[in-house]
Amino acid sequence: MELLGATSAVLLVCIVCLLSFTAWRKRFGKGKMPPGPIPLPILGNMLQVKPKDLAKTLQKLTEKYGPMFTVYLGSEPVVVLQGHDVVKEALIDHADEFAARGHMPIGERANNGLGIIFSNNEGWLQVRRFALSTLRNFGMGKRSIEDRIQEEAECLLEEITKTKRMPFDPTYMLSCSVSNVICSVIFGNRYDYKDKKFLALMNNMNNTFKLMNSYWGQVCSMYPKIMDHLPGPHNKIFTEIDSLKAFVSEEVKTHQASLDPSSPRDFIDCFLNKMQEEKDRANSHFHLKNLITSTFDLFVAGTETTSTTIRYGLLLLLKHPKIQEKVQEEIDRVVGRSRRPCVADRMQMPYTDAVVHEIQRFISLTPLSLPHAVTKDIHLKEYVIPKGTTVFPILSSVLHDNKEFANPEEFNPGHFLNENGTFRKSEFFMPFSAGKRICVGEGLARMEIFLLITIILQNFTLKPVVDPQELSITPILSGTGNVPPIYQLCAIPR
Ligand code: HEM
Ligand SMILES: *[C@@H]1O[C@H](CO)[C@@H](O)[C@H](O)[C@H]1NC(C)=O
Ligand SMILES: *[C@@H]1O[C@H](CO)[C@@H](O)[C@H](O)[C@H]1NC(C)=O
Ligand SMILES: *[C@@H]1O[C@H](CO)[C@@H](O)[C@H](O)[C@H]1NC(C)=O
Repeated sequence: MELLGATSAVLLVCIVCLLSFTAWRKRFGKGKMPPGPIPLPILGNMLQVKPKDLAKTLQKLTEKYGPMFTVYLGSEPVVVLQGHDVVKEALIDHADEFAARGHMPIGERANNGLGIIFSNNEGWLQVRRFALSTLRNFGMGKRSIEDRIQEEAECLLEEITKTKRMPFDPTYMLSCSVSNVICSVIFGNRYDYKDKKFLALMNNMNNTFKLMNSYWGQVCSMYPKIMDHLPGPHNKIFTEIDSLKAFVSEEVKTHQASLDPSSPRDFIDCFLNKMQEEKDRANSHFHLKNLITSTFDLFVAGTETTSTTIRYGLLLLLKHPKIQEKVQEEIDRVVGRSRRPCVADRMQMPYTDAVVHEIQRFISLTPLSLPHAVTKDIHLKEYVIPKGTTVFPILSSVLHDNKEFANPEEFNPGHFLNENGTFRKSEFFMPFSAGKRICVGEGLARMEIFLLITIILQNFTLKPVVDPQELSITPILSGTGNVPPIYQLCAIPR
């Protein structure tokens, strides 16, 4: 009896596999969806595509299936785009059709269709446009974003000075200063690095990212329907997100109470003004819930990304002391020691500019970008991607494309320099993605990375605590984001 049960179970599995294989054969190939590995029922291609190292395993599939292929993450088909040619063709040449956000269960549940990152259609367009124009340097009254970054850089220098040449892990202070820049932009003030409320906030943020990058977080994104109903560590993400939203919500209340419409102090004030302007408009997207959600979006999107980039960048400079030295030479020559570097200096600093670009290229922080979706059936190369299909534009495959970068796996600022030493622009530089969904914080982030790194190197020489040869620069975590190994350094005043 038992044997019979087992045999029929095996038979059943075989039949299901056969049926899904036949169904699969009909949907893929020329004039149809891009080909890919045969999916198993329910599991999809989970055996070939490891959540822990998604970008690498997807890269392997390219060798077999070419620059466009389909994989099943769980039961959902995802079209993967690899290399500059197809990514550009999709995100730039077909910008409108590829502008939708793909399915992201955690984000959708957290934001309910509002905000910028996980929203779509008219609501997304309006709030995104508003955020972009507000974040332009003169969006928020008298204090420019550059001023806010420079002010924060002074506090960071003070923290570094306190380490008195002793080894330290820069993670925490970099997170604080980057978070403070965003706080200044959206809430109008910065927090002391020891402020209790700020610490709690940083902790929420830290936990959110840890959970999201964890195995459970990734599985949760792939099997949302099942995971929603299971108890488990993934549910903790929503508790952390609620705490962050509660903080934002409180800030909004204090802003409402002290608002002077004629001189907005920050992003929240600007949004409140916009709400007033549109208060008689039916179906306006500018309402309180959307204010809280979009502020939350800027806060989470702007903190971990930028601080991890700078932290990884400093590690690369420890690994390559000659490069650090050349940056310092350029700072001394162009800026000197008597004033702080500013954004306008970048034009005169091609080497430093190249180093900053190379850091972002090399680390390829968000290798898969965020999921996109197509708004209609679309022909790309010899295939068709049906409306609504999720698409992953693999940014790391563009940033490490050997058609453009001679030795893509090598950290070399020469990738962004002409032979005569001038800065060499590259179309392949897309760490912020490209097209209609390109990162809203690109301008802010680039300003911040350039200013914080140059201001640190103006005052300090960074030394590793081990021989540079022994420093590992391989990411320790490479799911949705590349996380650098933990390290220590000494900051020697110059
Ligand atoms: C080094 C730092 C950063 C990197 C590498 C980065 C990268 C990205 C990437 C790859 C995307 C996805 C684009 C796509 O869907 O194709 C994105 C979206 C986004 N980023 Fe950033 N980002 C950074 C900093 C920031 C900052 C500082 C802010 C806020 C001020 C920000 C706000 C956003 C928002 C709101 C979106 C969603 C855009 C949309 O869906 O329309 N990011 N970012
Ligand atoms: C940084 O360098 C400047 C100029 O050399 C100096 O005045 C300042 O005290 C230094 N700041 C810190 C925090 O070390
Ligand atoms: C997150 O918290 C852990 C300890 O729980 C700490 O080691 C780590 O440095 C923190 N990361 C950030 C980015 O603050
Ligand atoms: C340097 O070389 C680039 C291309 O190789 C050229 O476009 C640029 O004009 C040159 N600049 C100078 C100052 O020679």
